[in-house]
Amino acid sequence: MLGNFKYSNPTTLYFGDKAQSHLAEALRPFGKKVMLIYGGGSIKRNGVYDDVMAALKEADKEVVELSGVMPNPTVVKMEEGAQLARRHNVDFILAVGGGSTIDYAKAVSVATWYDGDAWQHFWVEQANPAPDARIIPLGAVLTMAGTGSEMNGGSVITNHAANLKIGKVFGTEVMPKFAVLNPRYTFSLPHRQLVAGIYDMFNHIMEQYFSGHDDSTSDYLAEGLMRSIVASSLVAVKDPANYEARSNLMWAATWALNTLISQGKREDWMVHMLGHAIGAYTDATHGMTLSAVSEAYYRYVMQFCPAKFARFAKVVWDIPAEGKSEEQLASEGIDALMDWIRTIGAATRISQIGATPEMIEGIADATIILDSGYKKLTRAEVVDILRNSL
Ligand code: NZQ
Ligand code: ZN
Repeated sequence: MLGNFKYSNPTTLYFGDKAQSHLAEALRPFGKKVMLIYGGGSIKRNGVYDDVMAALKEADKEVVELSGVMPNPTVVKMEEGAQLARRHNVDFILAVGGGSTIDYAKAVSVATWYDGDAWQHFWVEQANPAPDARIIPLGAVLTMAGTGSEMNGGSVITNHAANLKIGKVFGTEVMPKFAVLNPRYTFSLPHRQLVAGIYDMFNHIMEQYFSGHDDSTSDYLAEGLMRSIVASSLVAVKDPANYEARSNLMWAATWALNTLISQGKREDWMVHMLGHAIGAYTDATHGMTLSAVSEAYYRYVMQFCPAKFARFAKVVWDIPAEGKSEEQLASEGIDALMDWIRTIGAATRISQIGATPEMIEGIADATIILDSGYKKLTRAEVVDILRNSL
């Protein structure tokens, strides 16, 4: 392991098919006025809303509701939430939904009492809240496995006026105080969202795995998680009501991005930077933006560290190594990745999710280029990768 780090994760998890029975107890230590945040209404159709309202009542809370959080939440919606939270002087935020709703709740949590342009400050300038900043504590009830937002500080916000989608990773002060993870709550997910979540969680691990040259415990953990996701995904896409597979996916997604497997690592995140820029232009489903750009990105980048990609092929995909060069093995690993992406039904081309040749230059401009994977891309390389993904 290289790197020095401090590790702590403040989120308490309640996991399992009766996890919601702990919600009232989890809410009790916080103030009386709770802002309940949710999305487009799936929680009203699948019964999750009723469970949550019962727990809020049991914990004797006063509820202020904010609904309509869209997939890829926007800065305009964030301002609406911050105004409402200020007007009611809420003590606590309860987010009920997928990554969009939880990310959004974090944005409202920091923006409500920030005196200035929160988008510019936290997302564009990537500033952290001041040590004495008032941050509204939040909790989460997760209904979709994928982003890991339930146990991390990430908050991704889209600004359509600026054609930008930017993630800010806040510290422990913004992470959920608790999260309720009932795999049954995810059963009503449309197939497309199930698949998008599966590739999202898998790619989070790839982003952390494909960096560094040292022998790292984090990489061994990452390999185990990736194998688990592949195994469970193949069951879940055929049999969506399989509790074992769905619960494994939910747990793996949380561990994929709850700050554990990145410890001591540099981390890549270029597939996400490309995916976010594509999302800013197309508003496409997050996991699909990642799968659609992955082949072109990884086939290009693997030449800069074939040894790690060969290890990925051997350990994650069980590809026999005998008689093969590292490059050949690395390439077969990407073949296996793409076969799996096609099998589960995720997008493989950005043209499938609304990107057009005319958008390429703009998407390239919106792509934040990081310098922490095996190759720092130039803008021209970003354009090539995007063109090869069309
Ligand atoms: O709005 P509702 O009606 O709830 O419907 C949602 C939405 O349409 C639906 N859904 C969720 N749970 C459901 C359900 N439908 C039926 N039954 C259920 N149980 O699914 C749709 C997508 O939901 P969304 O929350 O947008 O999906 P996801 O969890 O993938 O979140 C995506 C957002 O998270 C960001 C993405 O960029 C995107 O904005 N990310 C956040 C990260 C983080 N916090 O660390 C990291 C990720 O890489 C990602 O960037
Ligand atoms: Zn993601």
